[in-house]
Amino acid sequence: MPQTDVLIIGSGIAGLSFAIKVAQRFPHRQVTVITKADEGESNTKYAQGGIAVVQDSITDSFEKHIDDTLRAGDGLCDRAVVEMVISEAPDRLREMMEWGVSFDRNTSGALNLGREGGHTASRIVHYKDVTGLQIEKGLLKRVNAMPNITLLSHHFAIDLITEHHFKHKIIQPEPGITCYGAYVMDQHTCRIEKYVSRITLLATGGAGQVYRTTTNPLIATGDGIAMAYRAMARVSDMQFVQFHPTAFYDPEDNPAFLISEAVRGAGAYLRTKDGERFMFTYDDRGEMASRDIVSQAIDNELITRGDQVVYLDCSHLPKKDFVEHFPNIAEKCLAKGIDITREMIPVAPAAHYLCGGIDVDPDSRTSIANLYACGECSRTGLHGANRLASNSLLEALVYSHRCFLEVENKLEGIPVNDAIPDWNAEGTVVPQEQILITHTRKELRDLMSDYVAIVRSNERLQRAMKRLDILYHETEKLYDESVLSPQLCELRNLITIGFLITKQSLEQKENRGSFYNKDLVTS
Ligand code: FAD
Ligand code: SIN
Repeated sequence: MPQTDVLIIGSGIAGLSFAIKVAQRFPHRQVTVITKADEGESNTKYAQGGIAVVQDSITDSFEKHIDDTLRAGDGLCDRAVVEMVISEAPDRLREMMEWGVSFDRNTSGALNLGREGGHTASRIVHYKDVTGLQIEKGLLKRVNAMPNITLLSHHFAIDLITEHHFKHKIIQPEPGITCYGAYVMDQHTCRIEKYVSRITLLATGGAGQVYRTTTNPLIATGDGIAMAYRAMARVSDMQFVQFHPTAFYDPEDNPAFLISEAVRGAGAYLRTKDGERFMFTYDDRGEMASRDIVSQAIDNELITRGDQVVYLDCSHLPKKDFVEHFPNIAEKCLAKGIDITREMIPVAPAAHYLCGGIDVDPDSRTSIANLYACGECSRTGLHGANRLASNSLLEALVYSHRCFLEVENKLEGIPVNDAIPDWNAEGTVVPQEQILITHTRKELRDLMSDYVAIVRSNERLQRAMKRLDILYHETEKLYDESVLSPQLCELRNLITIGFLITKQSLEQKENRGSFYNKDLVTS
């Protein structure tokens, strides 16, 4: 039985930054990070725009960043959380730079700041248009140099270990549930082992793969949220799914390639195929409105005109500066046959970020004892109904630090439970028909994209619920009978995510931020 002091599930910015802090503070304690793909594969790796951090005291202030975040969140942010995250941001950024992660600087040596939708000042710290890759590489380098961190790639967390597994079956959330670690599959051997730990951190990221078109990589299947929900943790705000307005339109791509919002921040225009700029009809900030507004506007243009795409036009911008700031975007578009210095980029909205997730308090505590959550799988109250661009890498950093401070005083006092049963696979057989898994996954993505996407209606949500119920029962039966595979576990988790998004959409009584049901009157 692998035993560790701290179990971290996920190797994106949330998991790795927590691992570094806790391993540094407790050199005699063992920290284990498990991750289901290659060590760097994560939403973090693909982040383009950057991290929102107030830097320039002449043109910017904490108050302005706070106001922008509250406005984007459409009245549903927790103000105390917003103030806390934004005021702690400079310290967390400095710390990451001390760990060896560097960002673009201007000729006078100051951090070069970009601008994105919903921001009233330039405050996006970035590394060209590959900020996430730069962060992920820097954090992994640090983690791999620390002797008391074990990083296990291709290890898939199947379920959290709680009283459910050895005491009694719990059917309602109740106080007193404790987490003792997780059951984890080594994907090389297919063995499922129990990883028993004092504390467990879920840092499993988002769930964009529940939709047909998403900017999220294949790992984003909402596993942590589904595991926490099964263990009876509180999960909320799942109805607030953020669609990014500008993903490169290519129906064959999964994930869809993102054209960063920083491109509009640099001055690019959105146009219909007739060349008409349309954003000022929807918002007086034009292309710089927050992304819920821009995505809903594009969706409306596409439906009204019967088009598949709108266009992002960068051709009027200074070519050299533009390509220097966005080399990856320029290169990827060129590979797809578009020279962005001359031609317009075909774009359409894509599922991008989950504002809801596992409820945590300001110290990253979930409603289950000794279980913490950070990053995109968590719901902190920072984003409300719509996340302000580039606030999520920041949220992950601030909350992994707060989680560390919380755990720092507790870790030594938490015992390791040595009475955990082994994983029970009795009576299961290897499924003969993989098509049962692949087809259901396709069906789920289509159903969520057609019925529970940017614009929803009561009829579509109710239909979605009925179909999800069928997929749930079919897949639970398959799960109970089968020797497990990551594909089957991901499908089961995605169905839970689809169910939570749909159920919480039906419960949402007014249109706010990224949530729009055409049968509700907008307040
Ligand atoms: P992730 O980075 O997604 O890491 C999750 C980890 O959990 C992965 O290692 C994964 O393999 C692992 N995992 C998941 N399930 C399991 C399991 N069952 N078992 C084991 N391991 C598991 N935000 C910004 O603030 N600024 C940006 O510029 C920006 N740009 C973005 C661009 C793109 C294309 C995308 C997709 C997102 C962008 N975001 C941006 C959002 C931001 O990148 C994410 O919200 C953030 O990186 C999430 O970090 P995380 O550590 O919570 O999760
Ligand atoms: C982008 O670069 O447009 C993504 C920024 C974000 O998701 O915060």
